[in-house]
Amino acid sequence: MIFRALLFVAVSIAMLAQTGSVAYSKEGIMILPKDYREWTFLSAGLNMVYGENGGSAANPRFENVFVNPAAYRQFVKSGKWPDKTTLILEIRASDSRVSINKDGRVQTNVVAIEAHVKDAAKGGWAFYGFDASGQNGKSFPKSADCYSCHEKNGSVDTTFVQFYPTLREVAKAKGTYRDSE
Ligand code: HEC
Repeated sequence: MIFRALLFVAVSIAMLAQTGSVAYSKEGIMILPKDYREWTFLSAGLNMVYGENGGSAANPRFENVFVNPAAYRQFVKSGKWPDKTTLILEIRASDSRVSINKDGRVQTNVVAIEAHVKDAAKGGWAFYGFDASGQNGKSFPKSADCYSCHEKNGSVDTTFVQFYPTLREVAKAKGTYRDSE
């Protein structure tokens, strides 16, 4: 009995590890994946200003994008995002004249974290925003401008692959890339 229970737990953990990425509370709130900083790094946009979390020219912000490694590997093979793809956008403030740095910009504290998750069980892609504690991933309503901007301008399946240098050429080669201005 104990052995079977242990086996069940081991298999469940293995399945979780395989599908990645996304978990929700009973109330449907997304739980921030604790290890997202160990995921595959896609890009660090500098001051790609949009919405209330954008920076200013004088005080720019970085947008670090990470994806769960299983989804990254699938994308490299097919140019498509599999179900349960989880993309994390970590927005950081910046500073200059830190240590030996003079005129460059370095990243400092986290200002906001957002997620974009493809989940068939939730009707497809959804956006989440996390509070300062990084805990409560509240979903944005379908009327939010996240959806319209990403649908209109994202080059692959509502994601901004045109800005992710290791994936842009993959998508073009696999024929899943859509040009947007
Ligand atoms: C005016 C256009 C625009 C709007 C509105 C917008 N985004 Fe984005 N989003 C972008 C761009 C451009 C990127 C590319 C990454 C970057 O900023 O460097 C991006 C990237 C992302 C990513 C990384 C994964 C991906 O899909 O490429 C997440 C997560 C994200 N946005 C969440 C949100 C959320 C949540 C909202 C709504 C509160 C939102 N975005 C609204 C333009 C937009």
